[in-house]
Amino acid sequence: MKLFWEEPFRIFFPLGLLLGAIGVALWPLYFWHFLAAYPSNPHMRLMIEGLMGSFVLGFLGTAGPRLLDAPPLGMVEVATLILLQLAIAGLHLARQQLLGDLLFLALLLLFLAILVRRIRRLQDLPPPSFLLVLGGFINAIAGIALLQSQRFWLYQLGSILLNEGFILFPILGVGAFFFPKLLVAQPAEPADLRIAAAMWKKGARLAALCLLALWISFLLEALAWTRSAALLRGLTSAWYLGIEGGLFTEARGRTFLAQCFQLGGVLLVAGLFMPLLFPDRRVANLHVVFLGGFSIILFTVSTRVILGHAGASHLFRQRLRFLVTALAFLLLAMLARVSADFFPVERNSHLIYAALLWLLASAAWAWTLGPRLSQSED
Ligand code: HEM
Repeated sequence: MKLFWEEPFRIFFPLGLLLGAIGVALWPLYFWHFLAAYPSNPHMRLMIEGLMGSFVLGFLGTAGPRLLDAPPLGMVEVATLILLQLAIAGLHLARQQLLGDLLFLALLLLFLAILVRRIRRLQDLPPPSFLLVLGGFINAIAGIALLQSQRFWLYQLGSILLNEGFILFPILGVGAFFFPKLLVAQPAEPADLRIAAAMWKKGARLAALCLLALWISFLLEALAWTRSAALLRGLTSAWYLGIEGGLFTEARGRTFLAQCFQLGGVLLVAGLFMPLLFPDRRVANLHVVFLGGFSIILFTVSTRVILGHAGASHLFRQRLRFLVTALAFLLLAMLARVSADFFPVERNSHLIYAALLWLLASAAWAWTLGPRLSQSED
């Protein structure tokens, strides 16, 4: 049992998947007349706060204390976070969005407090790209605050910060740190401490620059400078994943998981650029980011985490059939979801297909990896 709260991804990943499945299933349920009200609001909150939020908590709740050289999370801490997450999902399903958002704010602050308490014993600095992870938390907190504003552009900014920024930033930060670890030939760590410190400072400067450019792009979008915002956001994300993560470097040798991550990274960047072509299709463009980028990266990184913690790291280099199946379903879900907004007559059926395909992707993934959640490294 101890394993489950000391490595809380074992609880948060399935919880996130369940909340995501409910969030996606709302669409077929609505079109099949099982739900009376249009499920836009509960859908977006269950996907971002529920699905993505739970994976962020699971990943950072496990890796955070290790990176800080601190003791793992305790049972009470993990149980409180889980109860909060369940209450938040319940509130959104009951269409109590404000209360749900406020409780989510409390959850994020509690989680940060849990990690900050551990910083007192900090011996080693976390990777500099984790500045972006912190940026993701700032985005969600500021986003929820701005959503209460009466001014339209501030409300818009709040919505962009929560719906995009909360997840985009950690994906860039974790991706830059994680992607090189998926490669066959990993870049060597500098042995000299002075070189390591200088490299850390350079990494922190790049992460800060990335943060700033992305925040400017959010501001531009909120002020309706859609194309300029997309150009700046797409270029910044591609530049950062390229320069810090080596995402587009040909020569460094790639494992299967690295190829999957690369696919997610390329689709993420493509989705961010899409408003240049279709400035009026905001939600369709966003779903390229959500399904092609966020979902594929989330499935890939969590596969690595689950297999690594289950003592199955020998599988990292193999072509994993369940992951190929899951990603294929995700790509089809993305096509169905995006095309829905371009074909108004078929919209409802495309949305139903998209939801069912996403559910199939999750089922294929969970079927294989579910049993691994209770296996330990040794
Ligand atoms: C796979 C099936 C999916 C379907 C059928 C679907 C459907 C939709 C639809 C129809 C809307 C627009 C609602 C409106 O009219 O206001 C929407 C918005 C949204 N969806 Fe999805 N979605 C899917 C997957 C996802 C995923 C995987 C995520 C996140 C990871 C996500 C996050 C969101 C968010 C945040 C919004 C609100 C966007 C905004 O207005 O800022 N969706 N979705």
